[in-house]
Amino acid sequence: MWTGSPLFPESASTMAPRVDALYFFLIGITTFFSLLIAGLIVFFAIRYRRREPDAVGARIEGGLLLEIIWTVIPFIITMVIFVWGASIFFAMSRPPDETMNVYVVGKQWMWKFQHLNGAREINELHVPVNTNVKLLMTSEDVIHDWSVPDFRIKADVIPGRYTQLWFNATKAGSYRLFCAEYCGTQHSYMGGRVVVMEPSDFQAWLATSGTPGALASAGATLFNDLSCNTCHREETQGRGPTLHGLIGRSVSLEGGGTVVADEAYVRESIVNPGGRITAGFQPVMPAYQGLVSEEGLLALVEYVKSLGGASETNHVQ
Ligand code: CUA
Repeated sequence: MWTGSPLFPESASTMAPRVDALYFFLIGITTFFSLLIAGLIVFFAIRYRRREPDAVGARIEGGLLLEIIWTVIPFIITMVIFVWGASIFFAMSRPPDETMNVYVVGKQWMWKFQHLNGAREINELHVPVNTNVKLLMTSEDVIHDWSVPDFRIKADVIPGRYTQLWFNATKAGSYRLFCAEYCGTQHSYMGGRVVVMEPSDFQAWLATSGTPGALASAGATLFNDLSCNTCHREETQGRGPTLHGLIGRSVSLEGGGTVVADEAYVRESIVNPGGRITAGFQPVMPAYQGLVSEEGLLALVEYVKSLGGASETNHVQ
């Protein structure tokens, strides 16, 4: 609907029709009540106009039924909007189990992409059509916002935190990418495009741009360079917990509570290890805040993921 209109973006993802349906519902509701209220204002102004110069209006005592009606009907309408909107929001922020993962780093003023096979891109992201793509995003400096209007998805990209977003592009083509959060002088230039390719074309592109598992093995190299392996051992118990089979598992914490070891927890444990310590371990690990670049952190996270874990499903490549 309306595709091709210069006023309306193309509909190129599985999320687009769902967002549009809600959007048109909102426009419909808004138009209906605007016309109703404007019409009644005009009608009442004419119908109940003052006919004698010294006429005084009749006293109105109010009407209980009327008040109940104009409270209950808007309440129902707003709850419909709330539940509908929330269901789309949850669908957008909860990636499906089977995804192709891409890491995104925003910085003033560019988007950097990292595929699991080590392929890197700047301001251009290649993905296959009809595939669930999960973006794990962070920022090197200030808050940015990843937005592709043709896919109807957007999410803030925040320094020191991983944000997840996913999409499934339904049409091959090239789609504009924007930064949708004011982030400094060249904010309006911070964009690019998402290139959606047929799966065979994408595989060919990917094969020329990297090698399978390259990001995880870069992480393994960094892991050894930083001497992480002296404490996090494979077989024997070191001074730190073993990282094998960690991802997706529920970890008991020192001082009580548990956390599911996802990408964000692994990142946090590197930059600020004292924050949430695994039960039974001492706070002996130094903080790597500022010592490892965001891209280095992504490689380390991917290395930890390559060591296996509770959910093996997030490794489509
Ligand atoms: Cu980055 Cu605006």
